[in-house]
Amino acid sequence: ADIYFLFSGLIGRSWAMVFAAGGFKVKLYDIAQPQLTGALESIRKQMKELEKSGFLKGALSAEQQLALISVCTDLKAAVEGATFIQECTPEKLELKKKIFSQLDLIVGDNVILSSSTSCLLPSKLFTGLKHVKQCIVSHPVNPPYFVPLVEIVPHPETDRSTVEKTYALMKKIGQSPVKLNREIEGFALNRLQYAVISEAWRLVGEGVISPTDLDLVMSDGLGMRYAFIGPLETMHLNAEGISNYCERYDEGMRLVLNTFGPVPEFSGEIERKISQAMSEKIPVVPKDLDARRKWRDECLTGLAKLKKQMKSD
Ligand code: NAI
Repeated sequence: ADIYFLFSGLIGRSWAMVFAAGGFKVKLYDIAQPQLTGALESIRKQMKELEKSGFLKGALSAEQQLALISVCTDLKAAVEGATFIQECTPEKLELKKKIFSQLDLIVGDNVILSSSTSCLLPSKLFTGLKHVKQCIVSHPVNPPYFVPLVEIVPHPETDRSTVEKTYALMKKIGQSPVKLNREIEGFALNRLQYAVISEAWRLVGEGVISPTDLDLVMSDGLGMRYAFIGPLETMHLNAEGISNYCERYDEGMRLVLNTFGPVPEFSGEIERKISQAMSEKIPVVPKDLDARRKWRDECLTGLAKLKKQMKSD
């Protein structure tokens, strides 16, 4: 039987729902029973809501998917029979290393050990493990249920077959995997994200544009396209192909890029200014943050639906 096993925080719960939607058996492991009970309750509530609104993923009903998920507080029992283990502990190197060295002692040669880490490099996490060939990073994007990208990042000693199996599994559960050929700080997603954040910070910091208008440049401008085509295809379509784009815009792009400032300090005056503007729009209290997150997830659900529809058209 295919059994997958995870940890039950925010990302672990989301992964569990994605795997169950794909029809796989899921075992959730965590350090304490209350954490698991809470996770099951929250998954049940979310699945029921998704089913009601017609957004539940997969071919099975919410009840059928829930029946695939079990919980466990004993690590050894949890990994018994597992073929793929997705680790979702807090983003702390020492903790993750400890978990992987524990797993290393109890798993066989056929299971894949996969980490959800956003920032820690495979060489930091997996070096020295007996099963390093079976180790990989599968970095999801929050919330994975609505945003399908998964960055697959190998350790230098990871087997090719581990990469291919992980890629195929992610496809099978309906996620959108991409392969990095080698590890690099920030992987691909956060490198792009930080490039955007740092220029946003500089533009606001230099008083060129207000924080709320800066966000509109993305949400009502660039972002409109980016949900469907990436920056490279954008170039391709905005001229008669890439080569023509480079011919036409090479000089202009370099001129602009040469005016970019250094890496900003994310503190002080500019931070206060941006924080104030964002807090006026969305007060930093759980009620308002959660309401806005709920709205964001609804937007993402609608967008996912639209993308699916556009693909089949
Ligand atoms: P979280 O804090 O919500 O969940 C962490 C879980 O680990 C909790 O269920 C906790 O009980 C459990 N835990 C704590 N200590 C443990 C231990 N010693 N042994 C076993 N379990 C333990 O964290 P979250 O946000 O779910 O993040 C998990 C991982 O996913 C991190 O590596 C993070 O970088 C990554 N990630 C997070 C994203 C996000 O936006 N939250 C996005 C992409 C990746």
